[in-house]
Amino acid sequence: MNIEFTEEQLAVRDAARDFAQNVLKPGVIERDEQQRFPKEEIKQLGELGFLGMMVNPKYGGGGMDTISYVLAMEEISKIDASVSVCMSVNNSLYCWGIDKFGTEEQKQKYLVPAAKGDLIGAFCLSEPEAGSDATSQRTTAIDMGDYYLLNGTKNWITNGGSASYYIVIAQTYPEKKHKGINAFIVEKGMDGFVVGAKENKLGIRASDTHTLLFNDVKVPKANRIGEDGFGFTFAMKVLSGGRIGIASQALGIASGAYELALAYSKERKAFGKPICEHQAIAFKLADMATNIEAARLLCLKAAWQKDMGLNFDQSSAMAKLFASKVAMETAVEAVQIHGGYGFVKEYHVERLMRDAKITQIYEGTSEVQKIVISRSVLQ
Ligand code: CAA
Repeated sequence: MNIEFTEEQLAVRDAARDFAQNVLKPGVIERDEQQRFPKEEIKQLGELGFLGMMVNPKYGGGGMDTISYVLAMEEISKIDASVSVCMSVNNSLYCWGIDKFGTEEQKQKYLVPAAKGDLIGAFCLSEPEAGSDATSQRTTAIDMGDYYLLNGTKNWITNGGSASYYIVIAQTYPEKKHKGINAFIVEKGMDGFVVGAKENKLGIRASDTHTLLFNDVKVPKANRIGEDGFGFTFAMKVLSGGRIGIASQALGIASGAYELALAYSKERKAFGKPICEHQAIAFKLADMATNIEAARLLCLKAAWQKDMGLNFDQSSAMAKLFASKVAMETAVEAVQIHGGYGFVKEYHVERLMRDAKITQIYEGTSEVQKIVISRSVLQ
């Protein structure tokens, strides 16, 4: 793995940094407080090419590598993890899934506009009784000849209210267990598809997380992704890539919190000198910097393996497991270094601490990552 970035990769990182600092930062506290979805900001992100970064340009994407995606995700997540989760889901779970496994017709209709950023997509796997245990899908898709009849409920769906198109995982042949699961592209506005309640969350409060209900939705057969029964494998493959996105989000939350704590510790004086000159704080900064560097290298290794066409299931799970732990620990320490200021909104670190927690939960809890890693090392 070459860890020297190319000029193109550095240009992507700098463009993401400029956008985060100049466009996202000014309103981030208000959006979090008001739980306001960053519609205009996401539109601008799409115009910059950040919503379909890895998609082939012939389908409206940026044709960039996964390393560039990691660099951009880190910069956006330093400032606004509500924006970066939307970006990650659209890039990794929605666009990549259709780009890799969709038909030409599906790509033209459902990938091109999402890769260009004209609209956003969502990925619907989790259910009230199927979170970590993803094979226990209760949503059904019964084969009716020309179409599937979709019934069920999906929970905690990122971009749930704002998306136009949704990849929905459902059970077609319950007796076949995970081998009977399919993945479909469902359009907002199809009869029987209802966007339900919006969640009031601890963190990533400006992101748009909803329950979705499907009551006898007729989904055309042409909207099934892959062969009959491919849905669970599809979901697992897509989630492996998604975990690189969320690991990079966690990395960004950690590095954002660290940068704020570092700057504050140089300004704030106590006992006659800047607090960074006290070993109690200096050692915290040393631990934070080391952990962040290790998390970054894990994210880049997983991205590099994906770009090389190698298997990245284990490395993406390791990156997500470690980076999300680092995000949580670093954000807590950043609040501690800020003292009382860290507990108020203007200093940003309390939001990063709240946002960090979800990175240990979504796209597979830390325990799920350990299942994936332990199975891989025990093979
Ligand atoms: N690629 C291909 N196939 C895979 C695979 C992969 N990466 N991982 C598993 N499979 C296959 C297995 O080989 C197996 O197939 P066979 O029976 O033919 O051998 C089949 O899938 C079932 O696998 P397991 O026996 O390992 O299944 P399990 O029930 O033990 O569960 C799990 C494994 C890793 C825990 C999985 O259920 C899982 O990842 N759960 C978490 C789900 C998740 O991440 N949800 C996130 C929702 S999306 C989200 O959060 C988005 C957002 O809002 C940001």
